[in-house]
Amino acid sequence: MKLLVKDLCKSYDGRLLALKPSSFAIHSGEFISLLGPSGCGKTTLLRLLAGLETPDGGFIQFGDQVVYSSEAAHELPAEKRNIGMVFQDFALWPHMTVFENIAFGLRARRQTTHLNDQVYWALEKVRLSGFETRYPRQLSGGQQQRVSFARAIVTKPQLILLDEPLSALDAMLRDELRVELVSIVKELGLTAIYVTHDQSESMSMSDRIFVMNAGAILQSGAPEDLYNRPQHSFVAHFIGKSNELEDDQHQLKGMVRPEKLRTQPHHPDDLTFSGIVSHVAFLGDRYEVFVRFKDRLWTSYLPFRPAVGDDITLYLAPGDVQSIP
Ligand SMILES: Nc1ncnc2c1ncn2[C@@H]1O[C@H](COP(=O)(O)OP(=O)(O)OP(=O)(O)O)[C@@H](O)[C@H]1O
Ligand SMILES: [Mg+2]
Repeated sequence: MKLLVKDLCKSYDGRLLALKPSSFAIHSGEFISLLGPSGCGKTTLLRLLAGLETPDGGFIQFGDQVVYSSEAAHELPAEKRNIGMVFQDFALWPHMTVFENIAFGLRARRQTTHLNDQVYWALEKVRLSGFETRYPRQLSGGQQQRVSFARAIVTKPQLILLDEPLSALDAMLRDELRVELVSIVKELGLTAIYVTHDQSESMSMSDRIFVMNAGAILQSGAPEDLYNRPQHSFVAHFIGKSNELEDDQHQLKGMVRPEKLRTQPHHPDDLTFSGIVSHVAFLGDRYEVFVRFKDRLWTSYLPFRPAVGDDITLYLAPGDVQSIP
């Protein structure tokens, strides 16, 4: 289902703009992440789309249906929007079995014909067949989150909203569930909006990322777009690592990605930077080397471990300096 949002905004207590007037379109079947620091308005935007919060103004359309319009004074209640939602804290009913937790939404909507089939279908999708009689306390965190995902898809919504669903899980499990989650969303053809403040998560999962800061969507694009063509220094710093360059001699100002720096010259035009190794971290496939210059600290990725305190010269092709408007 496609989504159209125009000038959507929300303030709390009549002062702070939790969401500044924002407009965007999402294609049917797209996996979108909202990425930004704590308090930037990610959850607010999700809640406005879900109908859990009333906007101050704007327009929201799901497919051909207008679900909110301040101009027309129209607001479709949350329960009529047919959205699946998954939260960070799972929000399962502790006194209900896995089966009943998943069936709950179907019963509430009176979609009870073939109830068993629907619940077993959802359980199979999240690979929890056989767990239906357990209680949430008898499940691991990852299994609980799968149940809440099953609960979100069992009503066959076209749009699914996920608010940091994996952040309570450990890193290994998170990696595994990311892949599973995206493949289920794609298999079912769902449109998904996924909130996270983890840039690697958003890069690995999304068709497009909306980078947010202070209640505004600063830039949206494919992960590659945002990484290679950031339009704001905030985006450049939030997506991947970057070094700031201000070179008066060559009249260069911009941003340099750590992987563009080398310890060997490739061309006579290469820019050179001499500094001192201040810290080295082993990343498995390379070393993250922090180099201290007179007035700044840069990050570079190198294939070997230099000694802390050593002099080091880094080379850079002038074309690898990204300018930021
Ligand atoms: N019910 C509320 N009443 C008053 N202010 C609120 C309310 N909900 C959110 N806010 C404020 O709106 C701003 C955006 O909050 P929001 O929850 O959308 O941020 P977020 O991006 O989801 O952050 P996090 O990553 O910490 O979850 C914050 O400044 C927050 O304090
Ligand atoms: Mg939030």
